[in-house]
Amino acid sequence: MTGRARPHPKPSNRLRCTRKAADRKRAQIARGQELFNTTNPSGKSCRGCHNAANNGSNVNGTLFDIGASRAPYFHNGIAPTLKDVVIHYEVALGFQFTKQERDDLVAFLEAL
Ligand code: HEC
Repeated sequence: MTGRARPHPKPSNRLRCTRKAADRKRAQIARGQELFNTTNPSGKSCRGCHNAANNGSNVNGTLFDIGASRAPYFHNGIAPTLKDVVIHYEVALGFQFTKQERDDLVAFLEAL
């Protein structure tokens, strides 16, 4: 018998990939959280009305649990997805987000 042994199958590669994807997701959620908590170029901030530390509960005491909310969003269900929620804020309140920022923010909202 000559030749090298067959290379071992590499389940670890797959694991590494999954871990990288998880790291990327975490980084995205962190960026989204930052966006949620900082003042937007429009001068407004999500945190101005929602407290991200408390699942997005409304700071003025009206309990508002984004984490517990389900589609369709808003009391009248006008936003079928969280992305629509973000776009709604752009249209209705003048928030400005890039496509990337919108995705980051959605990742954060999904993680609540
Ligand atoms: C001016 C205050 C205000 C600001 C600023 C604000 N929100 Fe809201 N948000 C509300 C209120 C009030 C509701 C409930 C409205 C309704 O149900 O129609 C709400 C609802 C939501 C919901 C839907 C939850 C559900 O149960 O349907 C999400 C998600 C959300 N806000 C995320 C955000 C994000 C992200 C931002 C920043 C881009 C933001 N909000 C900025 C006041 C605000």
